[in-house]
Amino acid sequence: MLRGDKVGLRARHDDDIPILRAELYDDVVNSSRSEGGPWRPITPGSKDPRLVVDDKEQGSVPFSVVELDGGTLVGTAVLWGIDNHNRSAHIGLGLLPSSRGKGYGTDVVAALCHYGFVVRGLQRLQIETLSDNHAMLRSAEHNGFVREGVLRSSAWVLGEFLDEVILGLLAQDWKQGAKL
Ligand SMILES: CC(C)(COP(=O)(O)OP(=O)(O)OC[C@H]1O[C@@H](n2cnc3c(N)ncnc32)[C@H](O)[C@@H]1OP(=O)(O)O)[C@@H](O)C(=O)NCCC(=O)NCCS
Repeated sequence: MLRGDKVGLRARHDDDIPILRAELYDDVVNSSRSEGGPWRPITPGSKDPRLVVDDKEQGSVPFSVVELDGGTLVGTAVLWGIDNHNRSAHIGLGLLPSSRGKGYGTDVVAALCHYGFVVRGLQRLQIETLSDNHAMLRSAEHNGFVREGVLRSSAWVLGEFLDEVILGLLAQDWKQGAKL
């Protein structure tokens, strides 16, 4: 388990799957804003890679996020698009609605940075998010990510085009444990 201050990142357990499906992926608004594609329901028992982890898939590492105090599931996190030539990857995360706004997002990004930079030896991490997702932007910036660009009207989200922000963090600029 990867440990932050308040949350840990562990492997996906079977018990996590119905909770993540009901509270994250059945939520049309949250999914439409987070997924970069049209929402569609996930059938119970499906092997959708957002829920069921394929340990042979080398390009991404999904985690379940739990509270360190008690072990309650609070969300999901992933290092994806792992490129071992350019030594880069992307970060994604989603917290259950009742677990947002408690500082967990900032903590999850910190744990993913530790995994990317220390465990995997990567040189660059990237996050893409909607320009109005202030909680995600702040969670990233607290860990040293900087805004590198805006993709204007790049995301079709429930009837309108929205801007996306690209944030990047290089290993040499990362200060482990710092909350900026
Ligand atoms: C985005 C997300 C991961 C952030 O995690 P979080 O635990 O809610 O965020 P934190 O509590 O760590 O807060 C981080 C910062 O955002 C601010 N913030 C939190 N919610 C906010 C909101 N609704 N509006 C504006 N700012 C907000 C906090 O005040 C904090 O900033 P501060 O320390 O400068 O005050 C979480 O809200 C989430 O899962 N949202 C839904 C899914 C999603 O958007 N995923 C990302 C897709 S790219």
